[in-house]
Amino acid sequence: MCGIVGYLGKKEKKEILLDGLQELEYRGYDSAGIAVIKDRKLNHFKAIGKLKNLREKTRDFSSEGFGISIGHTRWATHGKPTELNAHPHLGQYSYVVHNGIIENYQALKKELQEDGAVFLSQTDTETIVHLFEKYHQTSNDPFDAFQKTIERLEGAYATLLITEAAPDTIFFAKNGSPMLIGFEEEDVYFASSDTPIIGKATEVYYLEDREYGYAKKGEVALFDAQGSKSFQKQTLPTDKAMAQKDGYRFFMEKEIYEQSSVISDTMIGRINDEQIHFDELESDFFDGIDAIKICACGTSYHAALASSYLFERFAKVRCDIEIASEFRYKEPLLDDKTLFITISQSGETADTLEALKMAKRAGLKSLSICNVDNSSIVRESDAAILTRAGIEKGVASTKAFATQAMVLWMLSLYLADKRQMISREQKMIEIDAMRRTPKALIVTEALHGKLHRLSKRYLHGHGFFFIGRDIFYPLALEGALKLKEISYLHAEGYPAGEMKHGPIALADSELFTIALMPKTLHYDKIKSNVEELSARDATILAISPEPFELADDFIQTLQSTHPMLEFFEMMVITQILALEISIRLGNDVDMPRNLAKSVTVE
Ligand code: AGP
Repeated sequence: MCGIVGYLGKKEKKEILLDGLQELEYRGYDSAGIAVIKDRKLNHFKAIGKLKNLREKTRDFSSEGFGISIGHTRWATHGKPTELNAHPHLGQYSYVVHNGIIENYQALKKELQEDGAVFLSQTDTETIVHLFEKYHQTSNDPFDAFQKTIERLEGAYATLLITEAAPDTIFFAKNGSPMLIGFEEEDVYFASSDTPIIGKATEVYYLEDREYGYAKKGEVALFDAQGSKSFQKQTLPTDKAMAQKDGYRFFMEKEIYEQSSVISDTMIGRINDEQIHFDELESDFFDGIDAIKICACGTSYHAALASSYLFERFAKVRCDIEIASEFRYKEPLLDDKTLFITISQSGETADTLEALKMAKRAGLKSLSICNVDNSSIVRESDAAILTRAGIEKGVASTKAFATQAMVLWMLSLYLADKRQMISREQKMIEIDAMRRTPKALIVTEALHGKLHRLSKRYLHGHGFFFIGRDIFYPLALEGALKLKEISYLHAEGYPAGEMKHGPIALADSELFTIALMPKTLHYDKIKSNVEELSARDATILAISPEPFELADDFIQTLQSTHPMLEFFEMMVITQILALEISIRLGNDVDMPRNLAKSVTVE
């Protein structure tokens, strides 16, 4: 989500930090900052927008000779992209950078303010530096103060802290967000991933959760809950392009695998005990609203369509979905009791943005669900919920879809609760299922291997039908879109019950049917629909927890207790199937022909 770089040594620190942050800019680019202590003197610079603005600001600054330094490129989660909210955050004599989300920051902030701390930013991160200085003022021992600080933090963090109280030391800690330490003779590097330190450090140590420590000239110390530890260093890879993809062949592949962890980022701080919380929404946001209209394009439209089942089922609110490019010219009837939701990964899709402007002109309240803070759609909306998927590089959207689906599921529950339409028991079932989602998104070696083997049988034919019912119908649409985008094979998503009203005429052995057959939702109905296709000799790939004897190929999923868990598991399967078919066909998986990541034209 954000990128961190740190350096301790004699080289020009500014250049190491800026070059490192450049490599991490894909993790966030709404602001950036650096802090350097050299000859006991602290310097810091921050700039909003892309890194080039920070480069410009630091043009006349140089920092040769031994010193310590930290840098950060931000992707806003708490607080707008302003200079005050940019990292490093300052206490009275210390600076901190942080990637992750401190879940208990509000309670900590209140406590610190009562003790007299003055907060300059709206971020959760600033609590870390004030907490550190509070403990330091009583113990006068910087490392002891740092230990006490991280003991108080709940949530995810990778953090570096420097202080004038220990001007030759960088303190570090990691839990839930990535961080590594690079070594080269006396030089020590920190970074969120390999790429900033490739070509600089020769050895690396990837920090584990709940490890922390300090680095100073000639000494790097590592600890965990059991006490002091030794480093198991590895040789650092030398291929930068490979390192950016974390060893995966394509960004899309990396992003599919990442879904299990980014979905936790989407949920963090939003599911507390028995409630769903959205800090982004005022408590009266839904007052006076009696219907929802959602507008989006492509994958985001599919997420919207899936959510319409959930909004009506849980919150008992009418929910209509429209493709943005159609909505714009249909002269829609709009009324101001309808909440207008737009969904967009990029926040820049022209049709979605124009649909939003139209709805606003008609006086509708608006909410956007988006992955890019400060994007045009976010700025245009009355409120925005960020999906926190991190930057998605593959043109074919994967983790953006997963995180949109999660936000919408949470929002439907949030609204159901507000409208008192859901029992406590049902709410607990949903929340429990949400917490189990990261597991449903794990890609096992066995699954990927099976899909790889199976893909060789699906490189020809006269078309694919992905079929499903209920929320699995939008998932079928999304599965077909993924396959079309990167394999260039013709694929359609269809409601399973609708096949007999026409498309079944296409059925023969060269028609490939990918059947989404969840056990928790209408299993018998979809089974009959698939049997009808099998009777016409269609080739069936069944995805289901239940063995299905008529299937030509079969992927067995877990016996889940909740439809959304089956939804996410089947989503991953369709994504990997598309990926493997595309690879076998020799296509450019990340940059498929004729497509762009952000469609800013009508
Ligand atoms: C997804 O794989 C596609 N590349 C495309 O359909 C995309 O979802 C669509 O263009 C909408 O983009 P947005 O989410 O950025 O608005």
